[in-house]
Amino acid sequence: MKIIEAKSYEDMSRKAANIISAQVICKPDSVLGLATGSTPIGTYKQLIDWYHKGDVDFSEVTSVNLDEYAGLDETNDQSYRYFMNHNFFDHINIRKEYTYVPNGLAEDLEAEGRRYDELIESLGGIDLQLLGIGHNGHIGFNEPTDEFVTGTHVVSLGESTIQANARFFASADEVPKKAITMGIRAILQAKKVVLVANGTDKKEIVERAVYGPVTPKVPASILQLHPDCTVICCFK
Ligand code: GLP
Repeated sequence: MKIIEAKSYEDMSRKAANIISAQVICKPDSVLGLATGSTPIGTYKQLIDWYHKGDVDFSEVTSVNLDEYAGLDETNDQSYRYFMNHNFFDHINIRKEYTYVPNGLAEDLEAEGRRYDELIESLGGIDLQLLGIGHNGHIGFNEPTDEFVTGTHVVSLGESTIQANARFFASADEVPKKAITMGIRAILQAKKVVLVANGTDKKEIVERAVYGPVTPKVPASILQLHPDCTVICCFK
């Protein structure tokens, strides 16, 4: 694991965007695993800027997102599909039909999980996976549990995650209680992983994930086993 301490949020975002743009420049048809949350927004902004300057071209890229809330459709401004369109896809030349997000409206979410894993497999896996981290160590919506869950699966969101994400909703009551998330296998099989973490409130959990024991109680700790994982953090 490589740990890079950035000077500021902007610096963290630029460093992450540099790695992603290098990936796309070297392999224009890359499969990018993408994340939501407030942390990667600066990374997406930087990539959009470089796209407008002609430095990076997304026309052959495919993307697979980590997760989606159950029950929210893409017109709901809290859905992760909406987030991705609004914060990234609408501003670059990626082909929308090659941007995938788990379908949180699927009648059978377990079947949707299997379909999503097959999709990732059919794409040849993920070249670069971008991740944030929750205060409880979750990646995607892989919440702390007794065992790592390998495939894309349905999760009941923990109270701390509901409270943390309530800032985006009118109230905590409106945060969906369930979500569908890529599992640990697809994340670990990504050829390259970049995790971004920002803020003093993330310091403790990042340290536990990076230096503590590998345990499903801190899902991000599994990244210690990944051969090419870079953590870019700013704790200011
Ligand atoms: C959500 C997402 C995660 C993200 C986390 C942290 O729960 N499912 O993928 O990493 O939020 O969000 P933030 O970056 O806003 O702290």
